[in-house]
Amino acid sequence: MKIGFIGTGKITTSVITGLFRSKANLKQILISERSKKNSRALAKRLKQVKVVKDNQEIINRSNWVVLAVVPTVAKKILQDLKFKKGQTVISFVSTLNMKDLRRFASPATLVFKAAPLPMVESKLGPIVLYPSNNKVNALFNKIGTVINAKNEKENNYLWTLTAGMATYLELCATLENWLVQRKVNTTKAKRLVTSLVFGLSHTLLLSKQDTRSLVKEYQTKKGINEELLLRLKKDKVFDKINKNLNTIFARIKKANDQ
Ligand SMILES: NC(=O)c1ccc[n+]([C@@H]2O[C@H](COP(=O)([O-])OP(=O)(O)OC[C@H]3O[C@@H](n4cnc5c(N)ncnc54)[C@H](OP(=O)(O)O)[C@@H]3O)[C@@H](O)[C@H]2O)c1
Repeated sequence: MKIGFIGTGKITTSVITGLFRSKANLKQILISERSKKNSRALAKRLKQVKVVKDNQEIINRSNWVVLAVVPTVAKKILQDLKFKKGQTVISFVSTLNMKDLRRFASPATLVFKAAPLPMVESKLGPIVLYPSNNKVNALFNKIGTVINAKNEKENNYLWTLTAGMATYLELCATLENWLVQRKVNTTKAKRLVTSLVFGLSHTLLLSKQDTRSLVKEYQTKKGINEELLLRLKKDKVFDKINKNLNTIFARIKKANDQ
């Protein structure tokens, strides 16, 4: 497979790193020069990766094309590009809807939206993908867990949840800092938080129980877990997360409806 990436930012770097770690069968990877720092570093590190200055040339020389530029420039860049029949076109851009994507990619008809997250560089994390396709699913399942949306509305819901990453990490940073502020060694604090969330993720992943029942199981009656959770619920922390997820969904929906 010859794959080309237009936009060599954070997520392209993570995807390519993950694909190499998974030993995916890639004959050639072409990447755009921008961002210069990232493209130079990737080409230096991996001999199959070549930097190509012209975005159209990337398309001409690839049978799979990935669009991974920032949302603000995506349409402007696509307007000037010509795709080929039979090409597979995958967009990572959250705000580009399927209708526009299909129009820009025509005559190519194999058109997809995918949301890999930075953890793919370690072959981990969900990859929201729409529509479902065996070949595209197979490639992305090498670097994470593909979650197929059944329609565009569901795709917008699933993308909304990917906004939870930084908030989750902020919770980890808050726990860690609470210790550090009390003069606990930084390495020790990070180890505690990391093994706590890793253990919980492992439980979540392997347990056949639903998540709500695990929440109950991980509290002792009158214990400190019960108390902290009750206090946070009283402060409406989780209601606020729900409310703000609705706002993020509305933003994604509005951008995709345009
Ligand atoms: N990061 C995530 O977790 C994530 C998850 C899912 C989807 N996405 C989506 O993936 C896309 C890329 O995200 P990112 O995090 O990788 O952002 P990023 O690091 O800012 O990368 C965007 C890249 O687009 C490049 N670019 C701008 N104009 C270009 C052009 N004319 N030709 C080629 N490249 C051009 C930028 O280069 P310069 O630096 O030179 O301007 C930059 O390298 C976004 O649409 C984002 O919404 C990201």
